[in-house]
Amino acid sequence: MEGYTFADLVGDEEVFFAEFWDKKPMLRKNALKGNPSEILSFSRLDEMVNMEVIRPPYVRVNLNGAGVSEKTFTRTVTVQGTEIPDSVIPERLYDLYRSGATIVWSSLNHIEPRLRSFCKVISDKLGARTDCVAFLTPAGRQGFNPHHDPVDLFIVQTEGTKRWRLWNPQGERSSVIGTYTEEQLGEPAIDVLLEPGDVLYLPYHTPHAAAAREKSSVHLSIMMRPRKWQELLQKTVESLIEGPEFSAFPYIGDSRGASVESDFKEKIEALAARLNAVNAPAELDRLLESGRYLEPGRPPRIKADDTFQYSAALDELGPDATLRRTGTPLQVGESDSGRTQLVCKGHTIAVPSSIAEVLTGLEEGASVSAATLFPDLPVERSVKNAQGFARLGVLEVAAV
Ligand SMILES: [Fe+2]
Repeated sequence: MEGYTFADLVGDEEVFFAEFWDKKPMLRKNALKGNPSEILSFSRLDEMVNMEVIRPPYVRVNLNGAGVSEKTFTRTVTVQGTEIPDSVIPERLYDLYRSGATIVWSSLNHIEPRLRSFCKVISDKLGARTDCVAFLTPAGRQGFNPHHDPVDLFIVQTEGTKRWRLWNPQGERSSVIGTYTEEQLGEPAIDVLLEPGDVLYLPYHTPHAAAAREKSSVHLSIMMRPRKWQELLQKTVESLIEGPEFSAFPYIGDSRGASVESDFKEKIEALAARLNAVNAPAELDRLLESGRYLEPGRPPRIKADDTFQYSAALDELGPDATLRRTGTPLQVGESDSGRTQLVCKGHTIAVPSSIAEVLTGLEEGASVSAATLFPDLPVERSVKNAQGFARLGVLEVAAV
């Protein structure tokens, strides 16, 4: 799959943030290069149906505007003596789809690495929580009635087509879901048949209605929850009132003394002084970074050297492999009878003192070959030890 950027979604970022962000919906035809079905295809959804463990609440079904009871398409299966009460019955899901149901997969970013990455691009840019929901709709179905959602959305069409009508947000914007009649809304601001690769942006409270007509449709709805000034300021204040100065428990009941009131005034002044001293660019960077890691649409924290694949590759490490000292702290404990204790990530291991000396003498980033890492040892044992310390994360493979 193409590695998409935020600019692929929105085009000129300056124009997007000046004219559309938090203001009005935007349409970009043919926004995504490459083959958009690689983001999510009919066939990948078939595979997910066959993974019966992708079950409610990850998968839901809507028919004629109402949710279908999970009992209709799930059953209890037993796995190693444990009952899984809501495992999906694939043939029932297919029956429902044939009868016109829309199938919805929520938080697919928890399941599909490529969608996790797709969401991460948005989370990284906005410092906002993102969540990816996929909608599969059979041809000829009216979707939901016009409504608005309490979240910002990017809509990405990946297979088939879907007609979307969007109206500009009207009146006071509310953070709860709302429905409309066609008469209330009048002419839509955007009326478009979305095709694979097309993208829509909907700020929260944008009335919209969508329907698959000629073709079946797969689209992703990436929900974003940007934070208001209120939430950002709350975080800043929270960070400023940490510490002993603000940690006493005052008695504020009706028989409180005057001193409580003057103490309160003092605390407010102390907080005001701290607020005034805030370094705005640094604090905004901190808030951006914290927003990138909000649950549940968190970016992946699986690092390349955490993977099973990486561990398996370490098993094959040869004498010519080059290793590097990582930043993982290594503490030196007691030495006794030629052996030294090393403490790493909470594990204590006793190794020959010569090995401990070599390891603690390596600068972070310094490269060595597996064969010569431990010069006092025969090549084979040097490689074995290198493998062991790579598994612990003290060393990493620089080149094989
Ligand atoms: Fe919606």
